[in-house]
Amino acid sequence: MQIAVFKERRPNEKRVAATPDSVKGLKALGLNISVEKGAGLEAGFTDEAYEKAGATLVPDRAAAVAKADVVLKVQRPMLAGEGNDELAGMKPGAKLIGLLAPHGAKDALKTYAEKKIDSFSLELVPRITRAQGMDVLSSQSNLAGYRAVIEAAAQFTRAFPMMMTAAGTVAPARVLVMGAGVAGLQAIATAKRLGAIVSATDVRLVAKEQVESLGATFVMVQDIESKQAETSGGYAKEMSEAYKQKQAALIAETIKKQDVVICTALIPGRPAPRLVSDSMLASMKPGSVVVDLAVEQGGNCEGAKAGETVQRHGVKIVGPLNIASAVAADASSLYARNILNFLGLMVDKTGNLSIDWEDEIIKSVTLTRDGQIVHPQFRAS
Ligand code: NAI
Repeated sequence: MQIAVFKERRPNEKRVAATPDSVKGLKALGLNISVEKGAGLEAGFTDEAYEKAGATLVPDRAAAVAKADVVLKVQRPMLAGEGNDELAGMKPGAKLIGLLAPHGAKDALKTYAEKKIDSFSLELVPRITRAQGMDVLSSQSNLAGYRAVIEAAAQFTRAFPMMMTAAGTVAPARVLVMGAGVAGLQAIATAKRLGAIVSATDVRLVAKEQVESLGATFVMVQDIESKQAETSGGYAKEMSEAYKQKQAALIAETIKKQDVVICTALIPGRPAPRLVSDSMLASMKPGSVVVDLAVEQGGNCEGAKAGETVQRHGVKIVGPLNIASAVAADASSLYARNILNFLGLMVDKTGNLSIDWEDEIIKSVTLTRDGQIVHPQFRAS
């Protein structure tokens, strides 16, 4: 069975779907891997390293996909209308595995079905114990949470840790993390390591213990509603207007004492909750920094712009796009490992595809199969 990996072509994407290390793992599964020359360079993986690991280097994307039974991608492939047809030359029946971002990607799903490409969207991996090693959202969010704090520290004109020097004392920075999921917890840990005084907020009560175990203070509106704020999948629900108002009052009180706010709050399949208003920004000290990781889902912070840094009331609001790509080497390594684990589920002992379409994980991630959009969430869209 032939696997293809090629250079990601979307702007600002430095990650790659296989690393020399994961190539070794793919070989061990009995698979052959074609890698486009230069595919991993931006993440620091050289052609020589891929070759040494057992991959065959090919000159371009077309050569990689021509014989491929499986194409591994980081981002959703560009379609012909986007200026670069990344699906061109893919065989009917070939499998496409990646972060296919299917919400609002009707044209892409239609195209996969038309081309008879069976597609698997790894963001949809269920959060069950067996699938932990394939959990791309966790692996990428972890690094995103870390990098958001590094970005904030770089933009902040003061230091994070307390410093007592002969010339005077530098006060520690105060950091508030909104949303204590995977990214938020890593942001808390990173800000703590840098010496900041950290607090965090969430709507899921289970986050309290996790936040406190990292040495941060938990700030949350606790009422009857918050006892049911978590779905059976472990995600947050959209809260009622009454809860939102109570939460806004608490955040308004907390935020004016903060120097840095890291926003990570998300609700799956819905716009990000708006948690930081313009008047809250106005109450912050000039020179404060907000990094809004939720910006691509509409943002937690008013005024945040995707891919830009803007100023409001003297507060810098950073809206990073694809922040995991800024730590491309580690993000690729973890992602490639997630893919390897996922492929382990699809390949038999002889290195051939053997897909159990009824398997819970496979079922959750399959978007198209045999020329049809089969995922219940996207079938009608
Ligand atoms: P996410 O990316 O969907 O959301 C980030 C955080 O924002 C969540 O903690 C969420 O509760 C919070 N949030 C949503 N609305 C909010 C609001 N209005 N105000 C404040 N915070 C708000 O979530 P993520 O990071 O993907 O993790 C969700 C849960 O899944 C966590 O409990 C995590 O520990 C769990 N998880 C379980 C795994 C497993 O395999 N069992 C793997 C990874 C995560």
